[in-house]
Formats: sequence, structure tokens, C-alpha cells
Amino acid sequence: MIEKIKMAADKLQSELNFKPKIAFILGTGLSEIAEIIVNSQEIPYEMIPGMVSSTAPSHKGQFVAGKLAGKDVIFMQGRLHYYEGYSLQQVTYPIRLLKMIGVEKLFITNAAGSLRKELQPGDLVLLKDHLNLMGNNPLIGKNWEDFGERFPSLHAPYDTEMRKKLSKIAKQNQIKLPEGIYAAVTGPSLETAAECRMIANLGADVVGMSTVPEVIVGIHSGLSIVAISVVTNYSNMFHSRQHSQEEIRANAQKAKQRIETLIKELLKMT
Ligand code: HPA
Repeated sequence: MIEKIKMAADKLQSELNFKPKIAFILGTGLSEIAEIIVNSQEIPYEMIPGMVSSTAPSHKGQFVAGKLAGKDVIFMQGRLHYYEGYSLQQVTYPIRLLKMIGVEKLFITNAAGSLRKELQPGDLVLLKDHLNLMGNNPLIGKNWEDFGERFPSLHAPYDTEMRKKLSKIAKQNQIKLPEGIYAAVTGPSLETAAECRMIANLGADVVGMSTVPEVIVGIHSGLSIVAISVVTNYSNMFHSRQHSQEEIRANAQKAKQRIETLIKELLKMT
């Protein structure tokens, strides 16, 4: 495994004209954000040994690297999900890959359903903690000592410094950015109303099908992480009609501009 990732990292590095220290994962409906990169290079996941392709709708499945706000950056345009049938080790393989090419900071975005009336579709939530309700953990199995220790501590999975900076930027730019707790479920079926009530009662503010495995592996590897959820819909506890993927993508689109501002301004401060 370690040899395979080293090979993959060598391949990715050899394709890149850049040495990014910060990586971004673009979630559902947010792929277009990668278009703000200057002098961009696109590297399809299939080009990298061991990487699987993204099958989720609107997830392109490529790395996009280049310059943004004068900094070298790499974006994952589309992510891998557990519900696609991949193992959590496959889902988080790119996180280790990014670590191996020298990435130190990870900025994650995702689409999520709201479990609080005041978090409306189109709103952003800065994650301060999470609940892993996937019934699995990407670190189960042999520990890869080269990356990190057997029992990584998740006492502060979301970097305090970067969160402070993002909150400040949000305030300066009149962007509403409350902090919240994200619950990760496997999907792909959406939660029932009873499940939503249960998850809300457990303390979560938003619910989605990604991010937590990436955070666990990122922390294990020593990355500093921040994550923002775009509320794409009210979860099923607030209504009794079917969600449409169009609705989810349209609400994610609405948040594009605000996320771009947060990214650019954060880069200026790093
Ligand atoms: N539930 C789970 N995942 C999601 C949702 C939801 O309501 N919206 C976007 N991703």
C-alpha cells in the first residue's frame, strides 16, 4: 500500500508544475469553483495509479492545480463517496496522496441537509465538529505508521486558527457563516423523518454523505483541516416531499460566489 501511494504521489508530482501546500475538495454542485484557478492544469483521477474515478453526479473526477491569490493550490474537482461502492480506504486514498506531495492544509466543502430550521437552503455552515454515523472508519486495519499513529486524537479535527480566519473573512464580507456539527451517514438513500429527528437529537446541525472519512484520514496524516457545508435542502424532518438532485445542485450553485470569496481571502492570509 505505502509503495503504491509513493508511486502515485511521484506520478501526480511529475504531472504538476506547482508545489501546492493547500488542497480543496469541491463537493456536490461546487465543481465550477476550480475555474477561478489561474494557469490551471487538469489531471484526471484515472491517470494516477490506485485512484478510482468519481461516479457521483456533478463530480468531475480530476485534480485541478494552479495559482490562486498568488498561491499554489490543488483542487479535487469531485470526490469519492462510500455509497459509490468504494471502500473507505479508496475514498480517502487521495487525502494520503495529497499529503505525500507536500500538502499541509485541507479545505473541504460538501452539500448537506439542514436539521435546524434556521439553517436554510443556500446557507453555509463552518464545521466545528462531527458525528461519524457511517458505521465504519477508514483507519480500520493495519496502521500505516508512515502516515500517523494507531489512535489519532480527534479532540480538534477542525483547525481553530483557520476557522477563526474564515469567521473573520465572513464577517468582513457580510457572509453568514455559523458554526455547526456535521453528521455523516452512508447514503445513498436520504434519511427518513425519524432518522433526521434522531440525528438532530444527537446534536448534529447538518447531515451529509461525505467529509468525515476524509477528515479522519487527514488528521491521522497530520493535515490541518477546515470544512464548510452548503445547506442544499431542508432534511426530511421539515417537509414531506421528495428532494430533487436539481434542487440540491441549484442551492449549491447559489453558494458558489460566497465560497470563492472565502477561499481567495483565506489564501491571501496564508
Ligand atoms: N442528507 C444527506 N446528504 C445530503 C443531503 C441530505 O439531506 N443533502 C445533500 N446531501
